[in-house]
Amino acid sequence: MSRKRVAVLISGRGSNMAALIEAAKPADFPAEIVLVLANRPDAGGLSTASAAGIATAVVDHAMFGKERAGFEHALQAALENHHIELICLAGFMRLLTADFVGRWSERMLNIHPALLPSFKGLDTHRRALEAGVKLHGATVHFVVPEMDSGPIIAQGAVAVRDEDSEATLSARVLAVEHRIYPLALRLVAEGRVQIAAGRCLIRGAAGPEGAFIVPLGPA
Ligand code: GRF
Repeated sequence: MSRKRVAVLISGRGSNMAALIEAAKPADFPAEIVLVLANRPDAGGLSTASAAGIATAVVDHAMFGKERAGFEHALQAALENHHIELICLAGFMRLLTADFVGRWSERMLNIHPALLPSFKGLDTHRRALEAGVKLHGATVHFVVPEMDSGPIIAQGAVAVRDEDSEATLSARVLAVEHRIYPLALRLVAEGRVQIAAGRCLIRGAAGPEGAFIVPLGPA
């Protein structure tokens, strides 16, 4: 089976992008990262991608002003140039129109730093700490027009500690992100993910037994 051609879309440092590139290195991984595309010329991940030998492109949203259609037209052209089959949004900080999202329906993934549907939007770690949740984490989902809302492919959880700051919590969640994004991409690229009534059913990938309880009890 041929490997799915993937573009990773970034706006910043690109640590998830780097995790995807690393995971997709072995020839038996079912997807290959063929393009890293940024909407800002100063996105730090661009140099990481180049150093890994991956083609990069910049479609600078600032060049298009408020004109989303023009921006997305340029985005689409870059994706078509590289014969892209799947898109992974990885810290891509532009909202995409329903038109564009519809064109990539069930072929565009996003990672969100919270256990959706909790904490959609920005500042998820600060809000999780304020809410006092004991479990926090990250989610990979298909992109739908409504932000942070599509069918969930994979999630990973961490325990929140009393002494956590935004920085310590986000570091542990980020480590989870770097595991679940390659996993989700693999499952999608292998055709194991089927969407039914807004939920992802995943063939041949059972969840672990047992429960994750926080706190564990008196030490
Ligand atoms: C990650 O926390 C991701 O979940 C969110 O934006 C951040 C991007 O980080 N969507 P990086 O650029 O992948 O390091």
